[in-house]
Amino acid sequence: MHACSNNRQRSFAARRRFLKTAVAAAGAFCVPSVVPASVLGAAAPSHRINVGLIGCGHQSQRIVPSFLVHDDVQMLAVCDVNRQGVGYYWPDQVLGRETARQWVNEHYAQKTDSGQFRHCDAYVDFRELLERSDIDAVAIVVPDHWHALIAIAAMRAGKDVYCEKPLALTVHQGRQMVKAVRKYERIFQTGAQFRSSPNVRRACELVRNGRLGEIRRVRTWVAPNSFEGPGPGWKAMPVPDGFDYDFWLGPAPKAPYHVERCFHRWRYILDYSNGQTVNFGAHTNDIAQWALNMDRTTPVEFEDNGSEFLPKGSLFTTASKTAFRARYANGIELLCETRNSSATKFEGTEGRLEITLGGSMKTFPENIKDSVIGPNEIHLAQSNPAREENVRKHIDADHVRNFLDAVKNRQDPIEPVEVGHSTASLCILGNIAQILKRKFTWDPAAERSPDDEEVNRMLSRTMREPWKLSS
Ligand SMILES: NC(=O)c1ccc[n+]([C@@H]2O[C@H](COP(=O)([O-])OP(=O)(O)OC[C@H]3O[C@@H](n4cnc5c(N)ncnc54)[C@H](O)[C@@H]3O)[C@@H](O)[C@H]2O)c1
Repeated sequence: MHACSNNRQRSFAARRRFLKTAVAAAGAFCVPSVVPASVLGAAAPSHRINVGLIGCGHQSQRIVPSFLVHDDVQMLAVCDVNRQGVGYYWPDQVLGRETARQWVNEHYAQKTDSGQFRHCDAYVDFRELLERSDIDAVAIVVPDHWHALIAIAAMRAGKDVYCEKPLALTVHQGRQMVKAVRKYERIFQTGAQFRSSPNVRRACELVRNGRLGEIRRVRTWVAPNSFEGPGPGWKAMPVPDGFDYDFWLGPAPKAPYHVERCFHRWRYILDYSNGQTVNFGAHTNDIAQWALNMDRTTPVEFEDNGSEFLPKGSLFTTASKTAFRARYANGIELLCETRNSSATKFEGTEGRLEITLGGSMKTFPENIKDSVIGPNEIHLAQSNPAREENVRKHIDADHVRNFLDAVKNRQDPIEPVEVGHSTASLCILGNIAQILKRKFTWDPAAERSPDDEEVNRMLSRTMREPWKLSS
């Protein structure tokens, strides 16, 4: 646990000053529910967390309501390099910064007597949003090639960060994020929300408390690509109006525009992502590491296990079929593969347990499922101790709530940066084994392969000018 009370006090003091000035200057319109603190209690403006959203695409549809549902949140601004348009997951879906701004304004409008609210600001450039001293925390919901740059810039600017999984694009970027969290004494939640699922937690507790005997093997599954993507010979397309494509590419290499390069499908292209191995692996392998009590380390050996890629020249370059094997220092084997539904399965000397991301659990013998965890046994952290029902929207909201509470009490949340980094590293290294189609050993403490220099070269990527990662 890291306490950072001095910075926190400074940040609350700065915000109280801002609120005083803003409320005096603009009246009650600036903050929709400005009433005396004595009435609001814990949700008083002085306890309110002012949030900026960076990235207004597919996942922002879950993240925005998961923040807005909490009364002590004020979403002050949104940011996206795309003004508004189609091309996201569903063909007719119109997303981008103007859509997100509208959601936020409509939410607060419902809370005013006039039924009107238009004060959520919108930015193209995240650096302008980060300059605002009234913003306490940011939610980063952009493609993976941007996570480290934006998160570190945010922390340097004194913001706490909720950053979507997978933590980073490379092992090096993840390590820099870990260093920045500790250097700037910020609160950082990795957006791997299944840590906040009651059923996932219970599955991990059953494993941790030995109900399956000694664990020998863990199998993790990741869903296949949801889209086929254009094959070799694909043609560049005109950049849509209102979309700053060069800014979207940012640190990634220059490349001809195609709608399927951007807007959700970027996750199938190696310049911006490590594919489903990491996209869903950031959940299923995270559950594996949590249950094994290995969530601050990684396996020590990685090997391709029959992964497949699309033909050369296809737009999508990540593995179309995930298959890698890893081994922990204690001998436990981890097999990660593509399957229609993402899940994690533990195989022990006395039983087996499978948990899906949807939260359904199967055990063999069946009665393991009903086993009660005694008061003196291992109990894992809970985002919301009162929550028993495993409902997806509650999981997302509880994961955000856990972050907000951490922002207030200045203690690490349920998925701190080191844990997000270990899970992402595991998946990234599995992906490297798939690309190289060979076995290598790994030193988790040194974060290097002792025997494979090519692997070590793949731990970082050169950023396109003028973008540079510096803490
Ligand atoms: N936790 C989960 O279950 C879950 C589910 C889906 C996605 N995600 C994560 O959410 C993130 C976003 O995924 P998505 O599916 O929403 O992608 P998306 O492409 O639908 O949306 C990303 C948005 O970010 C914008 N953007 C890109 N670069 C930007 C920049 N520099 N500044 C501001 N905006 C920028 C894009 O224009 C786009 O609107 C990814 O990290 C992904 O892994 C998490």
